[in-house]
Order: sequence, then structure tokens, then C-alpha cells
Amino acid sequence: MFRKYVSFCLIHNIRVLAVRKMRVAVIGAGVTGLSTALCIHDQYHRTVHPLKIEIYADKFTPLTTSDGAAGLWQPYLYDQGHKQETQWSKETFDYLLKFVHSEEAQNMGLFLQSGYNLLKEPAPEPSWKDDVLGFRHLTPKELELFPGYSYGWFNTALMIEGKNYLPWLTKKLQEAGVTFIHKKIESFAELAAQGADVIINCTGMRSGQLQPDPDLKPGRGQILKVIAPWMKHFIVTHDLTTGVYTTPYIIPGSQLVTLGGIYQLGNWNEEDVSEDHKWIWESCCELIPSLKNAKIVHDWTGLRPSRSKVRLEREPFVSGPVKSELIHNYGHGGYGLTIHWGCALEAARLFGKIVDEKKSRFPKSSL
Ligand code: FAD
Ligand code: BEZ
Repeated sequence: MFRKYVSFCLIHNIRVLAVRKMRVAVIGAGVTGLSTALCIHDQYHRTVHPLKIEIYADKFTPLTTSDGAAGLWQPYLYDQGHKQETQWSKETFDYLLKFVHSEEAQNMGLFLQSGYNLLKEPAPEPSWKDDVLGFRHLTPKELELFPGYSYGWFNTALMIEGKNYLPWLTKKLQEAGVTFIHKKIESFAELAAQGADVIINCTGMRSGQLQPDPDLKPGRGQILKVIAPWMKHFIVTHDLTTGVYTTPYIIPGSQLVTLGGIYQLGNWNEEDVSEDHKWIWESCCELIPSLKNAKIVHDWTGLRPSRSKVRLEREPFVSGPVKSELIHNYGHGGYGLTIHWGCALEAARLFGKIVDEKKSRFPKSSL
């Protein structure tokens, strides 16, 4: 009967009205899940009717990894020449830069931040040098400020602080009618069985629980938040010669300064560790001795979803008689805030292809 109706409409060039909802289930409410949901809503809510987006998560702001991150736009520990990631990070920078002088910027946790990248040996210029503002090499006079470092760069980047940005994204999604469900998802099949046409996997470090992924490993980080309002520039150090990833950094935020640099690949411990606290404190105080006068407010530990590259791809999903589509968007390591919007745009492009394919199966129907 329905097929006859569709044929009749096609012959008479009549647009079939919405026949059922397109249901999208996003798993994850960190920066990846929220921004992907928003991007899909913004691009498709007018053309896919009705578009029902639900966000499932067992942790919401302020309890996600994205909330704890310092929030510096910089592809941290990531310069392996993957052009795709470089492009997504650039798209994110350019997108955020458009907001930086808007009245929204403060609510978003967005502001310009200049600072130093320090090295002990000369190194190739980073892939992101033309994405940031005013990238240049350090002068001898500047290097005198940092004994032990003989090389480095200065640039202006952006800060996008998760503790503000996630509530801002959440509010926009709520205003758009997106629903939030507090729940741990045990399997993709669970959502497919409930009628999700598209499931978007933004589960960060715990993606391996839903589908095994040997390439996904925790890059454990621990940071100290301190009161040091005299620190106005970020300072990120690197050791490219020994392959040691744990090197100190100091990143001033809107209220507190983040001291860090712990990167332990394969370590699942989410507790603060006193030896790591001591190492962060001592190595940051060695870098900037005045930090000895800073008051330590608290420690925070999080697991970076480290992967050789971001997993951002489609996968058809079949569970018994139920068919659905998966879009994976996880594995953003130490640069989830840096790359999130470019990845959200790509996920939305993949979503658009699914919509087009469904439309071509029912030509002229609006799903
Ligand atoms: P998350 O923020 O971890 O969110 C995952 C979401 O999935 C959560 O809502 C969780 O509840 C949900 N979830 C997972 N599994 C399930 C399930 N089965 N059922 C329901 N819900 C589920 N990046 C930067 O760009 N700049 C920085 O300055 C920066 N600093 C950092 C400092 C530290 C110390 C650390 C650890 C990381 C830092 N990062 C930084 C990296 C950044 O935090 C991550 O890349 C980013 O948070 C990943 O975001 P996400 O949304 O993918 O994951
Ligand atoms: C981190 O993952 O610790 C980090 C990310 C971006 C800039 C600085 C630090």
C-alpha cells in the first residue's frame, strides 16, 4: 500500500510527507558527543524531518575528561603527519576564532592565549604553525628566560575551557530540543533495538568496552590547578630526542593555572598519584621558580583516549533482524578540544551520506 502511494507521488511529482522519525543516538557527552550532536542538528534539522537526537551518557559536565582538560588549542604530542587530523584541528581553530570577539566568548570559555613551546634541540616546525596566530621562533633574549632550553616558538593560540564550553554546548542542544539520557550503554544493539537509525559512538577512552580496539590506549595525565595570577602565557616543553612524553607545562586558564605534563601510555589508573604530584610541582617550579609562591587548589587525573589516529568512520550495524548505522568518533588523545569541531563536521558529512542513501531508497520521500 505504502509503495503504491510512493509510486503515485513520484508519477505526480508530489513530495511525500515525513513518514517516520530519523532517530539519532549519540553515546557520550564529552566535547566530542556534544559538538557532534550540535553540528548534526544545525545542518539537518530543516531537511530531515523530524530529526530526533538523543544523547546517552553515564557522565555529564563537569565530570567528563573534556571538563578536566586545560583547554589549550594545540595538537599536543601529535605531529605524526596525518594530514586529516591537521585539517580537522585547523577547521576547529578557524571556527572558534570567529567567536573570539563575540559576546558569547566568555560563556563559551573561549579566549586568545599566547605562549611558548620550548625545546632543548632544534626541531622541524610544527604542522600547525600556519593555523595559529603570529607563529615565530624565539629570540636569544626570550630563551634567556628559560635556562636549559635552547630553541622554541612563540604564538597566539586559543583557550577553550571544557568547564564552560560543555555547559554552553549543553544549553544550545537543550534549546534545540535534543534530549539527554543518563545511562550507561552496554552495547550498540541496545540502541538499535530501541529504534536508533544512526548511532554515533563518542565514548572516548571507553570505546573499547563497546567494540574491542587494540589501537586505543589510555594516555594517563595528572595535573595540578594552582592560583598564580601573575602567569599570563602558556609554556609547553618538549623532549623530542629521548621519546619521553612526560615533560612539564604551565597553562594559565580563566581562573586557575594548570600545571602538568604527565603522559603515561597504557596506565589506567584514574587516581591522583603522590609521586606524579611531586614531579609536576618540582618540574614546573624549576621552569618558573616564582610558582613556589602559588597556592595549590587541587589535583585532577584523566585518561587521554590515545590512538594512532582518530577513528572517524561509518560502519553498518546488524543485530539479528535489526539494521542500523554506526558512526565512530573517538580516539582524540591529548587534543580533543583542539580538533573537536573539525571532527563534528566530518561526522555530520557521514551522517548526510546515510540520509542521502536512505532517500535514494525511497526517492522523493523526506524520510
Ligand atoms: P570524554 O570527554 O571522555 O567523554 C566521553 C563520554 O562518553 C562521557 O560522557 C562518558 O560518560 C561517555 N561514555 C563512555 N562510555 C559510555 C557508555 N558505555 N555508556 C554511556 N556513556 C558512555 N585536549 C586539548 O585539546 N587541549 C588540552 O589542553 C587538553 N588537556 C588535557 C589534559 C589532560 C590531563 C588530559 C587527560 C587530557 C587533555 N586533553 C586536552 C585531551 C582531551 O581531554 C580529550 O581528548 C577529550 O576530552 C576527549 O573528549 P571525548 O568527548 O572524546 O571524551
Ligand atoms: C594535555 O593533553 O595534557 C595537553 C593538551 C594540549 C595542550 C597541552 C597539554
